[in-house]
Amino acid sequence: MTVVAIDASYTIPIVTDIVVIAPDQTTGVLFTADQLSASYYMAAHAYASAAGAPFDNTTTTGIIIYEDATPLTPQMPVLPAFNDTPTAHKFSSNLTGLVNGLHWTPVPLEIDEQMFVTVGLSLVACEGTTNATCAGPFQQRLGANMNNASFQFPTKLSMLQAFFNNVDGIYTTDFQNQPPLVFGG
Ligand SMILES: *[C@@H]1O[C@H](CO)[C@@H](O)[C@H](O)[C@H]1NC(C)=O
Ligand SMILES: *[C@@H]1O[C@H](CO)[C@@H](O)[C@H](O)[C@H]1NC(C)=O
Ligand SMILES: *[C@@H]1O[C@H](CO)[C@@H](O)[C@H](O)[C@H]1NC(C)=O
Repeated sequence: MTVVAIDASYTIPIVTDIVVIAPDQTTGVLFTADQLSASYYMAAHAYASAAGAPFDNTTTTGIIIYEDATPLTPQMPVLPAFNDTPTAHKFSSNLTGLVNGLHWTPVPLEIDEQMFVTVGLSLVACEGTTNATCAGPFQQRLGANMNNASFQFPTKLSMLQAFFNNVDGIYTTDFQNQPPLVFGG
């Protein structure tokens, strides 16, 4: 496989046997059929690095069958371990925008704002939601946050529509540049 784009932005082409993809992310991959004529599984499973956190550990597969292949049992690739961070990191850190490629936008080189952003998970009040995880005596659920601010879906208009049409009241621009407290010892 040759990865050539991520989320509709061209990358320096990367030749790879594995692709790491996040929910909602699009990856543009060119596939080269240069193996022996046969059938092969392409397979995907979760990358889960948080120790002890439950996740769906099933594997999903598709089958690539070369046109002139006689029916054969597809060969199953060896997938990286669920928690193979070095492999995931090697892939992600290898991605670089295609400088001067089509639609390339130069990255601003002048830093005018310094941000320190933490990503966290905490228990938050359910506040009227009928979410099943809110059942029970505590009326709390897990909520993700950045710098202790969590995201709530707007109900009237998407954030992108509000941004392009200059509509007030959908989002604010006061995101904190620092988390509200210092973590660690
Ligand atoms: C998936 O998780 C189940 C339940 O925790 C476990 O029994 C099983 O061995 C796991 N399978 C793999 C492939 O890790
Ligand atoms: C990706 O990794 C390969 C092998 O380590 C290296 O040759 C290549 O330059 C890297 N590409 C980018 C865009 O970092
Ligand atoms: C983090 O956010 C919660 C929910 O808005 C709030 O109750 C809490 O005071 C905040 N923590 C800090 C340290 O600001």
